[in-house]
Amino acid sequence: MSKNTQPIVQIVDLVQIYKGKVETIALPGINLKINRGERVVIRGKSGIGKTTLLHCLAGILKPSAGKIIIENRNIVDFNEDQLADYRCTTVGLIYQSYNLAPFLTVEENIEFPMVIAKIRREKRKDRILELVDLLEIERYLNQKPPYLSGGEQQRVAIAVALANKPAIILADEPTGNLDTETSDQVYKLLSNMCIAHNTTLVMASHDPEAKSYADREIVLSKLKSHDL
Ligand SMILES: Nc1ncnc2c1ncn2[C@@H]1O[C@H](COP(=O)(O)OP(=O)(O)O)[C@@H](O)[C@H]1O
Ligand SMILES: [Mg+2]
Repeated sequence: MSKNTQPIVQIVDLVQIYKGKVETIALPGINLKINRGERVVIRGKSGIGKTTLLHCLAGILKPSAGKIIIENRNIVDFNEDQLADYRCTTVGLIYQSYNLAPFLTVEENIEFPMVIAKIRREKRKDRILELVDLLEIERYLNQKPPYLSGGEQQRVAIAVALANKPAIILADEPTGNLDTETSDQVYKLLSNMCIAHNTTLVMASHDPEAKSYADREIVLSKLKSHDL
């Protein structure tokens, strides 16, 4: 197997300043490289900039300055169409609050990103079967998310994030609402999925346990600007 030595993520002098009544320097100029298939935990106190960093990586937030080079393209320069495509196919997002559509069934939630990606119906159905099998959620297919437990909903959310086979999974405090045992299961699941498919995982967490499921832990601190 040929190994791609070029990092999949290269963050160069990334700055995010929120302007309001007061200016908040959320990212003070960060440099970071992440290899394909690497599992990275971003740790640090609440308010340190973890979510901001993930939102920049997700193409949801345009940073004040700096570059985010993903697979050799600077996503900061992307136009809206390129960003929409990037968000749909290159990254999968997982949140603490699951972010499932409550009025759609589990099956429809998993299918939705594939509809957006214009995947044919037959292929969508095959992929759904594959995912529900992997995540052991087949028995919830016709249920709506509010009827599931937190751990079950997060498994569905992982299936949604994986639907379009993204190269990068971005998870923001994915176990923040779960008990220790369920958190453990979710970490294991995420980590195993990424290992199995050489998917890169960038996971924000303030949980010291998270690093046992990662290859590298990065701690954000209040330093003015830093190389990680
Ligand atoms: N939309 C926003 N407008 C203004 N300030 C924000 C906004 N989002 C986050 N911040 C501020 O930026 C800093 C970093 O926030 P965040 O990235 O959410 O940190 P974390 O995820 O590590 O808790 C905090 O001081 C927060 O208050
Ligand atoms: Mg956060």
